Amino acid sequence: MSENRSLEGRIAVITGASAGIGHAIAHHLASLGAAVVLNARRESKLQTLSDEINSQYGQFEGKPRAIVAAGDAADESVVESMLQSAAEHFRAEPDLIVVNAGRGLNGSVMTSDIGEWEEMVRTNLIGAALLIRKGGLRLVALQESREWPTKAADLVVLGSTVGRHISPFSSMYGSTKFAVNSLAEAARREIGPKGVRVTLIEPGIVRSEFQEVAGYDEAKFSELMDKYSPVLEPEDIARGIGFVCSQPAGVHFCGLMIRGTRQDYP
Ligand SMILES: NC(=O)c1ccc[n+]([C@@H]2O[C@H](COP(=O)([O-])OP(=O)(O)OC[C@H]3O[C@@H](n4cnc5c(N)ncnc54)[C@H](OP(=O)(O)O)[C@@H]3O)[C@@H](O)[C@H]2O)c1
Repeated sequence: MSENRSLEGRIAVITGASAGIGHAIAHHLASLGAAVVLNARRESKLQTLSDEINSQYGQFEGKPRAIVAAGDAADESVVESMLQSAAEHFRAEPDLIVVNAGRGLNGSVMTSDIGEWEEMVRTNLIGAALLIRKGGLRLVALQESREWPTKAADLVVLGSTVGRHISPFSSMYGSTKFAVNSLAEAARREIGPKGVRVTLIEPGIVRSEFQEVAGYDEAKFSELMDKYSPVLEPEDIARGIGFVCSQPAGVHFCGLMIRGTRQDYP
């Protein structure tokens, strides 16, 4: 168990926790003392992760530390039920919400598969917007019920470096991240004054299932990996999120761009 218990007592909800960055975030936040609600579509992977967390990091206030809330994060009723199951299981409102579920897509507006556009936009944009809204409103209500600024409330949103720097190589995916980046900053301006930290995390290239799901050309991608090596691992992003959320309630690192040292672009 980690010596650092900077998130002791916090209750986190994490979408896209069955793989990659979300999986690493769940482990790391639990190692810092948080309880975790795990969402993704593949329930069996979430069950394995929750068993691992429950056996490695012990109970949370007498209850299993990790619970599963499986389903499509772009479905409004799934978003409601993941937030509600956190409140019901732990008998307290979640106070750390990570908007992470998402997928990539190989190619530009000219070359990417049109048949994949709708699902990607639905997951990356509509799903993110639903959780920013429903999670954000619950965090505001939580902060209004507390004395400020004793306790922090966090909404952490996964954007991307391609949501800030245009990459013709994956411009359809990048357009969804430009949208997410702007929603996160807009939400920060709207609910930051109510005591909720909305933090945009912008990773560069991270080795995960992302590349396979996006349908990247393996040979081209491995050339890029060689050029930028070593690229980031999901745990590198998770540590950044742990750091941001562990700050005192009145301190906000509003955004974090994380690249492998040799990644010059995007
Ligand atoms: N990897 C990178 O280079 C990189 C760089 C910048 C930003 N990002 C962003 O970081 C986030 C995580 O990416 P990753 O690298 O960890 O990718 P990953 O390894 O492919 O993991 C994606 C996760 O999202 C879940 N997911 C996908 N669609 C979902 C849906 N509709 N509902 C619920 N869960 C869903 C997947 O689980 P199920 O299939 O089980 O649902 C999986 O757990 C994404 O938002 C991505 O855009 C990644």
